[in-house]
Amino acid sequence: MSAEWLKDRVFYNIYPQSFYDSNGDGIGDLQGIIYKLDYIKEMGFSGIWINPIYESPFGDAGYDVTDFYKVAPRYGTNEDFERLAKECKKRDIKIILDLVAGHTSTECEWFKKSSEFEKNEYSNRYIWTNSVWDSGSGYGGFIGGASERDGCYMKNFFYFQPALNYGFKNIEKDWQLPMDHPDCLKTRDELIKIMKYWCGLGADGFRVDMAASLIKNDPEKVGIKELWRYVKSELKKEYPQAILVSEWSYPKDAIASGFDVDFIIHFHLKAYNTLFRYEKGMNPSDEWIGNSYFRSAGKGDIDEFLDEYLEHYNATKNDGYISIPSGNHDLPRISKGRDFDDLKVAFAFLLTMPGIPFIYYGDEIGMKYIENLPSKEGGYNRTGSRTPMQWDSTKNKGFSIADETYLPVDNSIDATTVREQLEDNNSLLNTVRNLIEIRKKNDALWADGGFEVIKKGYPFVYKRTGKASSIIIAVNPSDNEAKVDLPTVCAVLAEKNVEREGSGIKFNKQSYIVYETTKF
Ligand code: GLC
Ligand code: CA
Repeated sequence: MSAEWLKDRVFYNIYPQSFYDSNGDGIGDLQGIIYKLDYIKEMGFSGIWINPIYESPFGDAGYDVTDFYKVAPRYGTNEDFERLAKECKKRDIKIILDLVAGHTSTECEWFKKSSEFEKNEYSNRYIWTNSVWDSGSGYGGFIGGASERDGCYMKNFFYFQPALNYGFKNIEKDWQLPMDHPDCLKTRDELIKIMKYWCGLGADGFRVDMAASLIKNDPEKVGIKELWRYVKSELKKEYPQAILVSEWSYPKDAIASGFDVDFIIHFHLKAYNTLFRYEKGMNPSDEWIGNSYFRSAGKGDIDEFLDEYLEHYNATKNDGYISIPSGNHDLPRISKGRDFDDLKVAFAFLLTMPGIPFIYYGDEIGMKYIENLPSKEGGYNRTGSRTPMQWDSTKNKGFSIADETYLPVDNSIDATTVREQLEDNNSLLNTVRNLIEIRKKNDALWADGGFEVIKKGYPFVYKRTGKASSIIIAVNPSDNEAKVDLPTVCAVLAEKNVEREGSGIKFNKQSYIVYETTKF
């Protein structure tokens, strides 16, 4: 079972380049995060995940690493990271780093060596075919003609992100190495060394990028499970409290691989999209199109979510947690096509479900997805979700004193700020803060509290159960009203737009209630 400390935490996802610029160069940095830790703490967040901070040419916003042991100068130094970790510890905020486990940048020294004509200790660090004329077809994307070495290298994502070689589960070609090949084991052991290095400097765990991608030709996921279980057990020997969070989006496999938390997001499963991102343009793949449950039109079907969610939840609830994030740096912001009322209802759900909530920076104030921004650092249509945090009404919304910022600040007339929302009791920010506080105070709402569906449709009603209490949550994202009979109300913890009528509750448009009921 997962580290005990995880249960009651709510995480905040920080995109470092856009959070807060402490030295006026227009790019957010680690010192900037330190300056804002009190804000994070006051919001009730008790953990942060920072997108990659390693040295990188930033072709993919830092997901193309050149040196895994070094903080990128634009964010500061390794000492700054140590200070950040210490400042987090003082405030009981856990800190997890982004581990880009599957690939590096082509600028990485390992890859440069691997590309050389002469064989050397890095030749097998990446996956290469034996001839430039063999483009590895059937096994993913390969790039040829980029090196002295005669062969094509496998890429994981963009062309400059060559896949590290952890081996193939099923070998079908002579250029494919088995997982237990000494060179593949070296790749694995290097990864473990990287993890231990950062834990040694104060990290509490990692969000693992493309966690399912490491072992190739592994349709049954046997190899990848073995790999991660081993990596985790090695890490735990020195850092028993460290946690691993996966970008996998298939909890049954991820938790069985030893991950403490798996995100359900826009791929592999449609569950996440059916809640928030079912409409065209709301997720990068547009693989599934329909009506999100959380839309004021009220045309969604919560069963589309529950069918998949419950299957994965029931299979994993004793071993790890599912995270339903508000968004991340790869998705259009949750605020797209939603107003503050819609967002409050969405957060009432996000902050009362089992597992670990992750809130993407700026979502707590409903920052907008900026349409049609020119791509920045490989962002493409993701760029509009990565704009600078809006702190107050000073220059650059308080993000930076520079004349030019990493990405343009949203200066539209209705661009909201933290300052403005702090002063308004009814703001989205204060709603989120209040819901986080309620979650923290009631063990029924923690990651491992019981979960039972009470009623489907609009409103969607569910019960969470802990040692001390049972809590009913009912959310009505729809513009339509509904009146329903619900279990006895003992104490209301939070509500919006509901009326008590005799034995029933009337849900006006975009409403919710969170209340304690009798335990049994
Ligand atoms: C993950 C990251 C994404 C990155 C990709 C390649 O999906 O979240 O931002 O581009 O991996 O590393
Ligand atoms: Ca800076």
